[in-house]
Amino acid sequence: MAVYYDPETRTFTLSTRNTTYQMKADELGTLLHTYYGTKTDTSDLSYAIHMQDRGLSGNPYETGQTDRGYSLDQLPQEVSCFGTGDYRTSSMKITNEDGTAALRLKYADHKIQKGKYSLPGLPASYDGEGAAQTLSITMRDEESGVTVELYYGVFADLDVITRAARIVNDGPGAKYVNKAGSMNLDFVSGEFDLITFYGKWARERVTERTPVNHGNLSIGSVRGASSPHYNPSAILCERSATETAGEAYGFAYVYSGDFLFEAEKDQIDQTRLVCSIHPMDFTWKLAPGESFYTPEILMTYSADGFAGLSNHFHEFIRKHIVRGKWRDIRRPVLINNWEGTYFDFNGDKLVAIAKDAAELGIELFVMDDGWFGKREDDNSGLGDWYPNEKKLGCTLKELGERIEDTGVKFGIWFEPEAVSEDSDLYREHPEWAMTIPGRLPNRSRNELILNMGREDVQDYILERMTEILRSAPISYVKWDFNRSVCDKFIETLPPDRQGEIAHRFTLGTYRVLEELIRTFPELLIEGCSSGGGRFDAGMLYYTPQIWCSDDTDPIERLTIQYGTSFIYPPNTMGAHVSASPNHQTRRVTPLQTRGVTAMSGTFGYELDLNKLTDEEKQEVKRQVRVFRDLYETLEQGEYYRLTTPFSDTCTVWEQVSRDKRTAVVNAVYHYARANHTPVYVRLRGLDTEKTYRLRLTEGNDYKTLPEHEQILFEEGRTFTGRTLMTRGIFIPIYLTEYQAWQIIAEEA
Ligand code: DGJ
Repeated sequence: MAVYYDPETRTFTLSTRNTTYQMKADELGTLLHTYYGTKTDTSDLSYAIHMQDRGLSGNPYETGQTDRGYSLDQLPQEVSCFGTGDYRTSSMKITNEDGTAALRLKYADHKIQKGKYSLPGLPASYDGEGAAQTLSITMRDEESGVTVELYYGVFADLDVITRAARIVNDGPGAKYVNKAGSMNLDFVSGEFDLITFYGKWARERVTERTPVNHGNLSIGSVRGASSPHYNPSAILCERSATETAGEAYGFAYVYSGDFLFEAEKDQIDQTRLVCSIHPMDFTWKLAPGESFYTPEILMTYSADGFAGLSNHFHEFIRKHIVRGKWRDIRRPVLINNWEGTYFDFNGDKLVAIAKDAAELGIELFVMDDGWFGKREDDNSGLGDWYPNEKKLGCTLKELGERIEDTGVKFGIWFEPEAVSEDSDLYREHPEWAMTIPGRLPNRSRNELILNMGREDVQDYILERMTEILRSAPISYVKWDFNRSVCDKFIETLPPDRQGEIAHRFTLGTYRVLEELIRTFPELLIEGCSSGGGRFDAGMLYYTPQIWCSDDTDPIERLTIQYGTSFIYPPNTMGAHVSASPNHQTRRVTPLQTRGVTAMSGTFGYELDLNKLTDEEKQEVKRQVRVFRDLYETLEQGEYYRLTTPFSDTCTVWEQVSRDKRTAVVNAVYHYARANHTPVYVRLRGLDTEKTYRLRLTEGNDYKTLPEHEQILFEEGRTFTGRTLMTRGIFIPIYLTEYQAWQIIAEEA
């Protein structure tokens, strides 16, 4: 039973295949958190909470004058409330109409149900196969009349537990939600590190590991999008945890707007982790009877290091976040014209690229920015979603048909949430752009933001996109978003609701995406935000893949995709082979290396194929064949990071097919050294009893290797899975700078 309630002890035990999560409603109604970790039984674990009187940590009035050990300031709790004696960071803060801010939530009731809760207007994991259970716990603050429903979704087989909450104003007078936490997770013991994923434009999701010391360690975004600067995910692990050993807890926020992750070590060395909508620019007014849903957070735990944690999340995101037709079928290998042409194209040029693409086995052509309105550069035209027929030399329908006639599908770029001042839309509806009366707005890439919190704006975008998508044979949309939100104001909202705008903006975007998917269920949407600026589990609910970064340099991508892989599976990471020298770094790399890196993402190309030599075209053909051949293993398999891009010379990672019959070891030399030291790796995830043969991918002759390295691939040589995972193998030496290898281990 995934959710078990013991009425004697009032404990709730959530059990997954390998983990236990437990909480207890104590005599005072506080919902204590008693345990999260390696699977144990359902007995009451609250004995381990040590209560002692400590100065300056007060006691709830009900404890009387004798029990000074019971303090909300010290107890591990499921929801932590501001204003009633817990001075650590809180997951909930609510202000009453009279200005007082005090909340003390006590257990009132609970419900256990089959299936998975959903959250109106918000993305949330779903349960297609009837595998999940939901526990809802009702908590109440009698004094203010606030009710909070805590939701727990338990996916036992995948070791994932989800959380969210609904805050209801059941009392008289308005309430103002100042902090809406999705999770409060308390650990009474342990020394932890927090791993976060920081970055900037063109360098997203770089791993950073920081000890959680006394005080508050936080990451977040107030940019109106989850942002490239900090990804809305984190790992809390014991100090000694590695890829292969140690306890690690993973968290992924299913939300694309402002967020805050806080890790706090308190006065008695307990650790608290809180995830919420960022409170800096958030206040949500609840009139009597109204309610507010927090976004969802995913939690997983692995006792065996980061690889286990990543594989839980990969499988979960693939199966329970990504939806629709594209969840289960192979995504098309695509070519995008952005780095090939930028704004300098016409219909004929695009058709010529599509023709070459089709001949090389590529399946989808994507027309990026510049096909609409007056858009010859990035200074104008956004919002005018009408094809520029003069530039294209034909209608969009004709262009789509010409592209499809070459043998590839047709896709198209939008940036729906943005508007240029130099656009007909802005001239007609200046009030639709986010600006504060009496202030000049903040420009970014010379664009302003459309007020997605307004329904008329959402309707305009829907109307334009629907008409465009109906007008031509379009199978794919790239949904871009190239700036951070600022200048928040909605004239139709009263002053005490202006703090809702950032969240309303995100909800507005979600509404448009949801309607679009409903109208065009076959459409494949790729998210994008100046690269990977909105790469989160919230967007993945609508867009099965997200452009990982505007940095297409394969060596830079090693770090970006490495960081991304901790939480998100390869088939969500938009990754393309681009030209060399690379446009962002000027680095020259072999075409094969660019292919190997991009194949651990959704795989596509982003260059002018007409400029490739015949030899390069053959290499592209080979790559497409290899990718298709290895698709199941690369995109759906288990994922193991064998070395890191911060290591000495070579980044190595591995994917293993679900049936364990095939593994791909990808190795890229990111640094060439004289007098090279061999790089050894132990494979992971294989079947110890199976026998494997090693080979290099098609087109790579092992006989070109130094003689002593050929031994791995000699005819007739086999290895047991056990050998490959214990003694391991060396990675063949590089023959050219930035050489990459794909070594296939196949069941013999
Ligand atoms: C930013 C994206 O990340 C690029 O791939 C490209 O679509 C440009 N925007 C177009 O303006």
